[in-house]
Amino acid sequence: MCGIVGIVGHRPVVPQLLEGLERLEYRGYDSSGLACLQEGRIACLRAEGKLKNLVEKSARFPLSGTVGIGHTRWATHGRASERNAHPHISGKVALVHNGIIENFVVLREELSAKGYQFASDTDTEIVAHLVSDFLQEGQAPLQALQAALRRLKGAFALCLLVEGEEDVLFAARQGPPLVVGMGRGENYVGSDVVALAPFTRQITYLEDGDCAVVGRDFVAIYDQSGAPVERKPTQAAASFLVSRGDHRHFMHKEMVEQPEVLGRTLARYVDLNSGRIKHHDLDWMKYHRVSFSSCGTAFYATLVARYWFERFARLSVDNDVASEFRYREPSLGTDTLAMFVSQSGETADTLAAMRYCRSVGCDTAALVNVEQSTMAREADAVFATLAGPEIGVASTKAFTAQLVTLAALALDAASQRGQIDEAREKAFVQQLVEVPRFLNETLRLDAQIEILCHSLMNARHALYLGRGTSYPIALEGALKLKELSYIHAEGYAAGELKHGPIALIDDTMPMIAVAPSDRWLDKMVSNMQEVVSRGGHLILITDAQGAAKCGFAANSTVIMPDVPEFIAPIIYALPMQLIAYHTALLLGTDVDQPRNLAKSVTVE
Ligand code: F6R
Repeated sequence: MCGIVGIVGHRPVVPQLLEGLERLEYRGYDSSGLACLQEGRIACLRAEGKLKNLVEKSARFPLSGTVGIGHTRWATHGRASERNAHPHISGKVALVHNGIIENFVVLREELSAKGYQFASDTDTEIVAHLVSDFLQEGQAPLQALQAALRRLKGAFALCLLVEGEEDVLFAARQGPPLVVGMGRGENYVGSDVVALAPFTRQITYLEDGDCAVVGRDFVAIYDQSGAPVERKPTQAAASFLVSRGDHRHFMHKEMVEQPEVLGRTLARYVDLNSGRIKHHDLDWMKYHRVSFSSCGTAFYATLVARYWFERFARLSVDNDVASEFRYREPSLGTDTLAMFVSQSGETADTLAAMRYCRSVGCDTAALVNVEQSTMAREADAVFATLAGPEIGVASTKAFTAQLVTLAALALDAASQRGQIDEAREKAFVQQLVEVPRFLNETLRLDAQIEILCHSLMNARHALYLGRGTSYPIALEGALKLKELSYIHAEGYAAGELKHGPIALIDDTMPMIAVAPSDRWLDKMVSNMQEVVSRGGHLILITDAQGAAKCGFAANSTVIMPDVPEFIAPIIYALPMQLIAYHTALLLGTDVDQPRNLAKSVTVE
């Protein structure tokens, strides 16, 4: 999604703006730009494509100026091009924006009728014109911004500079997050903490409806009604200063750090001394139903969790793709816990689903990786996944951290509800504690997995199959492959194959079977036979026992460690990631920032 950085500095601001924008690259973008006040006038540079194009441009056309704004754009209105890149300028105003202005057609017509010319296809430009229009009516900049905000519908975060206001930036939040950072003799605005990490850790989160005037040594915040408000500053975690280390990609780093990350997450939810789950402030006896809403990879984590919560805790579970949840107007009683799983804690669809549940009086819990996120701040209960900043756009460690957290919560619910006794709880906890070891063992299969990807890289389509908790892992495997390598892939419940997808099988169609030796293996074997007998190319991910049963049929077999059924989905997620990663590398795609994707999806 679009990234915003703004700086009111005491030295030339462009190098810092570029550094902040570099930090924001992980969010996904297709063009970038910056503007600063140079000798009192707006000077602006914009470039299509990667940030290096903007860096090169700013070397050719150096800008001075100590107040500036920068932007990485993820196209919504208008294609990715230099003319649509931000900042957008109208009169004395230069503006950057994240989000969507929903009533832009009406406003564009209104502004066109007043004689405003549009230089882009974006919804952003109408905001610049609106503010400019109110300035021309004689309003002061803050009042002009507030007047413009009253005309806007949608979800957006804005940062702007105004000619004649040499010492301040203006910012506003209505939806997507926006933070103000406090430094020494300079202050900052950012769409997330990561952008400001090189400059400061003193952060204030703007609330929905807030406007801010940010000077070098002051920050004034106003709420929706225009009244001045205090927002408490917080100290951002040092871990936001992430580096790739000696890894070729962030994604690689994030995959290999999973054993350590999940160990840390487990330590939050498991008492290693007693070997039991740590109980959290959630009364599971109060609920009969858990309603999960989430998007993408996080949605697949909730599909795995469904098996655990239903089987162990005897709670009935609904899983919704967050963007569809509200449309079915589910009936939610006080016996339902609505849980929202999100790495970023900012995904607009998931947040909207959470707000819907709150509006109907349902208890909410957020399972997030970013503990300061909007979801974490709005939910009744918060469970942190503690994966640390995830920079690769494709979720890896955040997914497996969601899985272990959900596994621990399912055991907590089961134990509180008397569905498992202490001995069983301890046996399951012991299995969870072994997750990091099994992940380390799986990482040793990396070279073997890389080799099998040579047979996958020329495929145009691929099928992933699984049963039970391996079914959502098959879905996740297919998502990872398509987003990283752009090979079309679909995940199916193995039993569903014969109800349609089997028609696709021929010798050009690789099929990846996620088949640990669990209670579903025999049925999986039958499904694999159905594929092989129709000439399909079978890549089998299994353990020694599984290989003995069906390895003969496979073109390639990856023999995984022998893991208990309960934790198998967590461990089998790793080969899914490695397959997608290596296939993408062979095809030469950008694994950390795949085309068209954004890390934190703050528009609906
Ligand atoms: C895929 C991926 C996405 C996210 C989805 C939800 O690798 O990362 O599908 O899982 O956009 O994002 P969060 O978890 O931040 O709500």
